Amino acid sequence: MEFMKSLKRSHRCGALRAAQVGEEVVLFGWVHSRRDHGGVIFVDLRDRDGLTQVFFDPTISAEAHALAEQMRSEFVVGIRGIVRSRGTNVNPKLPTGEIEVEVRQATIFNAAKTPPFPIKDSIDTNEDLRLKYRYLDLRRKPLQDALITRSAINGITRNYLLEHAFLELETPILTKATPEGARDYLVPSRVHPGEFYALPQSPQLFKQIFMVAGYDRYFQICRCFRDEDLRADRQPEFTQIDLEMSFIEPEDVFEIVEGLLKRIWKQVKGVDITTPFERMSYATAMSKYGSDKPDLRFGLEIEDVSDLVGDVDFGVFKDTIAAGGKVKAIRLPGGALSRAQIDALPEVVKTYGAKGLAWVRRKAEGWQSPIAKFINEATQATIAARVGLEVEDLVFFVADREKVVHDALGALRLHLAKTCDLIPKDTYRFLWVTEFPAFEYDEKEGRWFSMHHPFTSPRLDHVDYLTTDPSKVYARAYDVVLNGIELGGGSIRIHDTAVQQKVFDLLGLSPEESQLKFGFLLEALTYGTPPHGGIALGMDRLVMLLSGSDSIRDVIAFPKTQKATDLMTTAPSRVDPKQLDEVHIRVKATTST
Ligand code: AMO
Ligand code: AMP
Repeated sequence: MEFMKSLKRSHRCGALRAAQVGEEVVLFGWVHSRRDHGGVIFVDLRDRDGLTQVFFDPTISAEAHALAEQMRSEFVVGIRGIVRSRGTNVNPKLPTGEIEVEVRQATIFNAAKTPPFPIKDSIDTNEDLRLKYRYLDLRRKPLQDALITRSAINGITRNYLLEHAFLELETPILTKATPEGARDYLVPSRVHPGEFYALPQSPQLFKQIFMVAGYDRYFQICRCFRDEDLRADRQPEFTQIDLEMSFIEPEDVFEIVEGLLKRIWKQVKGVDITTPFERMSYATAMSKYGSDKPDLRFGLEIEDVSDLVGDVDFGVFKDTIAAGGKVKAIRLPGGALSRAQIDALPEVVKTYGAKGLAWVRRKAEGWQSPIAKFINEATQATIAARVGLEVEDLVFFVADREKVVHDALGALRLHLAKTCDLIPKDTYRFLWVTEFPAFEYDEKEGRWFSMHHPFTSPRLDHVDYLTTDPSKVYARAYDVVLNGIELGGGSIRIHDTAVQQKVFDLLGLSPEESQLKFGFLLEALTYGTPPHGGIALGMDRLVMLLSGSDSIRDVIAFPKTQKATDLMTTAPSRVDPKQLDEVHIRVKATTST
């Protein structure tokens, strides 16, 4: 490493401009590409900052030129040279495109094997290979940009919250289960045979205890662990911007979060987002958009036609209404879908439990539709007026239980918007969804579940319904939604032991069980607990939306696959029997490898 002893890096590879022409510089980096022009050799030198073209002329340094002959893609090299203007050969695509460096001295720090995929912005390599060689994938610009954005968001968040009198405090990773609705990751204890820690699904209980302890305004950028089915926007370990405040109302949380997101958008994207954000009740979100996280960048709102179709001759509609179900519709203005595309749509809604999808195209001469003959002209006219049906428009109907109708039409709405290219680019539609029901009844399990988590306060005037009619209880909970993605969720918490105990009762937790699981919280609540509340934002989803990535995996340095494996380290993996023995675990015979 003689080269580095005598020479310090003067610039990163994205830094040089015309102003530096004539200067001597020292650059280190990876060989992005190498072109031998018979005599002179050109190398694009790359680091996370950018690319600089350097050239090796044998008449300037025969020694450096000889090294350049050995250089191949991804070799790690250093050069000393003089910045030259490229004259008329400017490369407008590169920020450093006006200059190049004439090499006087060079070194090869390390050779590299040929990478299994090219280090280019856009590649169609299968994701498993990219994940296995994550260090190579991370050299690609889109991933670097996402991680650099991520680092910036971390910094902005810390500064903003510290400025707003929040304390950054840590909470344990080896802890007891926190119910956020997923399975826990368990860690066996060596010193307590048969006992386990759980990795936190969130710092929920600790942040509430911080409020009890008087640390009003806590935040943490923290890792959470949930063993759940993975999707494009879910990972088994993910990061939250988690915060909690005392003596507040939901509005105080909204204001802090809006201010934070406004600053992030301004500093990362240079975009001014409008605050306060729009508000919508859960009931409106479900009935208009079929989703509790509606994407407001486009229309295609759902219309209820149940009151119009109770006596039509179409059995599906009539019977559904008779059975207490609903018939709702979505109009696609202009109806720009072929018959083949329409015929593929029932598959989309069937995933959500719908039994079919009825459709109508309005032609100048009347309805074109498999169901037209079952619906008389007068009813056709009232339906058309309700949904605003114009000539050439299509309208789709689902008849079923209301939940199925909402899920199916909510999904159809997104599908139609994508298929018909109705989603505007670079548009950010933020929204607070409020007035959530506190509990959901699970028919299969025959019991109530919390929609948010069991520490969420019921609306104060609904506390009595806890024991009389839980379906009527609204929660003091709120979600912040952006472009159809749930960015964060939070609530005002229960700060009264008696109410907390009532909620546990309702959820079927016996006093013994609740004592065993959350006794520490119930007890803490009795020692002077302020009214408090907070929220957690999904950091990974935030970065995904800001960097325009399609998958959360592209904004996490070392993500897991859909099957929760790490292909680079090959975790999870078997462990030495001795290690298992130490933690008092015996593995059941399995067929998996
Ligand atoms: P919640 O469970 O709604 O609330 O989580 C808050 C936010 O975290 C993100 N998120 C995820 N991101 C990636 N992968 C996952 N598996 C995943 N799960 C959740 C989402 C979500 O909106 N303790 C409460 C917050 C509170 O009440 O203050 C909580 O964790 O963006
Ligand atoms: P069928 O009577 O099953 O032949 O269905 C006639 C049309 O109604 C087809 O286009 C079906 O896709 C549609 N259909 C069937 N069930 C439903 C339903 N539950 N909601 C809406 N449309 C349906």
